Amino acid sequence: MQIGLLGLGTVGTGVVELLENNKDVIAKRINDHINVKKVLVKDLNKKRTPLVEGKITDKFEDILNDDNISVIVEVMGGEEPALSYIKEALKRGKHVVTANKEVIAKHGRELFELSAENDVNLFFEASVAGGIPIIKPMKECLSANKIVKIMGILNGTTNYILSQMTEQEKSFDEALKEAQLEGYAESDPTDDIKGYDAARKLAILSSIAFNTRITSDQVYTEGIDSVSKADIQYAREMGQVIKLIALGKKHEDSVEVSVTPVLLPKDHPLASVSGSFNAIMAEGNAVGPVMFYGLGAGKMPTASAVVADIMETVRNNNCSKFNCTCFDNLEVMDPGQACSSFYIRLLVVDKPGVLAKIAGAFSQYQISLSKVFQKNTINGTAEIVIVTYDVPFENLKRALDQMKDYDEVEEISTVIRVEGEQN
Ligand SMILES: NC(=O)c1ccc[n+]([C@@H]2O[C@H](COP(=O)([O-])OP(=O)(O)OC[C@H]3O[C@@H](n4cnc5c(N)ncnc54)[C@H](OP(=O)(O)O)[C@@H]3O)[C@@H](O)[C@H]2O)c1
Repeated sequence: MQIGLLGLGTVGTGVVELLENNKDVIAKRINDHINVKKVLVKDLNKKRTPLVEGKITDKFEDILNDDNISVIVEVMGGEEPALSYIKEALKRGKHVVTANKEVIAKHGRELFELSAENDVNLFFEASVAGGIPIIKPMKECLSANKIVKIMGILNGTTNYILSQMTEQEKSFDEALKEAQLEGYAESDPTDDIKGYDAARKLAILSSIAFNTRITSDQVYTEGIDSVSKADIQYAREMGQVIKLIALGKKHEDSVEVSVTPVLLPKDHPLASVSGSFNAIMAEGNAVGPVMFYGLGAGKMPTASAVVADIMETVRNNNCSKFNCTCFDNLEVMDPGQACSSFYIRLLVVDKPGVLAKIAGAFSQYQISLSKVFQKNTINGTAEIVIVTYDVPFENLKRALDQMKDYDEVEEISTVIRVEGEQN
């Protein structure tokens, strides 16, 4: 089996090394040898692993027009030219394996239609949670279930930062700097800390789980940059931890999809997922809850998923198997209608009657309060923490908008969802 590799960065190099290091067992398992025939890069002058000597090109056509290459492995990243190259490859009847969440989350429908039309495989296991097997288990092992909920930690960078803030009591800025020094965060970390990376992965997972096409722009997304040391401390006092949670929930005729910071009880299975690890819980109506845990990124974990997809392609050669399963057309729920319990931290003038006025605003929008406490008072300003019972997000926003106009409310510092607060 001759393959063409598009990209030889972190993942591409891992793929080449894994194919070499495990070549004996791989060949025995699929009864074939996988040979990387050509490798596309941008910069021909960069130093490369000796394993690809004589195979490097900077022209995609060299790979596309090679009739002996039947599998194209896209590990370049970015939307373009990766999307066009994948389309060209599928149209030429070549199988495609990709790790590109951006392309699958935005253009999945079009690409799956192309792969079906041309009777070739399009595999993308590495696009969600790197080395953790999740796409195939969802599409195959759990396919007898109706999935009612998925909930996961899908971004290692933000989980590392929040873990440092929780375990080492660092500020957000200190934890981000450390993540960059340790190589867990990019120099421009926007995609991670704003939740966009997790939203792409959730769009892919929810499309599979709920059999309806969901794109990343439909995912309600909040990042972790508004989470402060004070919030982490209050969460700890309440027996909770803060995690960036990707949530997909099936309602009767709609699906709820969000990526937001969430306060989780300390004994929640996702609460102990620490550092750069990822985890996904899925809940099926037959199987109940199942959980997947492991490294969601990195050279060899990601290569593990990519190479397994290449092997699957060899097993399935000339037989398209992994078809699009988005046969429903469900509404994505308006985020304002999604119900949750919320934690709110606000700064108010410390004088009698203020708390009653705030409670009045909540009550006006049918919001019941589960906890209210006041800890720090500095120079006449009191910090108040409130936890509500389940409430539609829209009601909460209206109450908070009303409070912003109160002279006594100096700042609404943080609003975070809470998991597991009973009504
Ligand atoms: N890194 C991870 O842990 C991880 C985990 C899961 C999924 N992924 C996904 O895997 C993909 C690759 O990630 P990566 O971290 O390996 O990226 P990377 O280290 O930046 O490598 C990208 C490679 O693609 C090549 N490339 C980029 N644009 C090109 C163009 N226009 N023409 C030709 N070659 C081009 C680069 O060439 P040069 O070498 O010449 O610059 C480089 O070899 C991305 O979609 C990413 O989201 C990565």
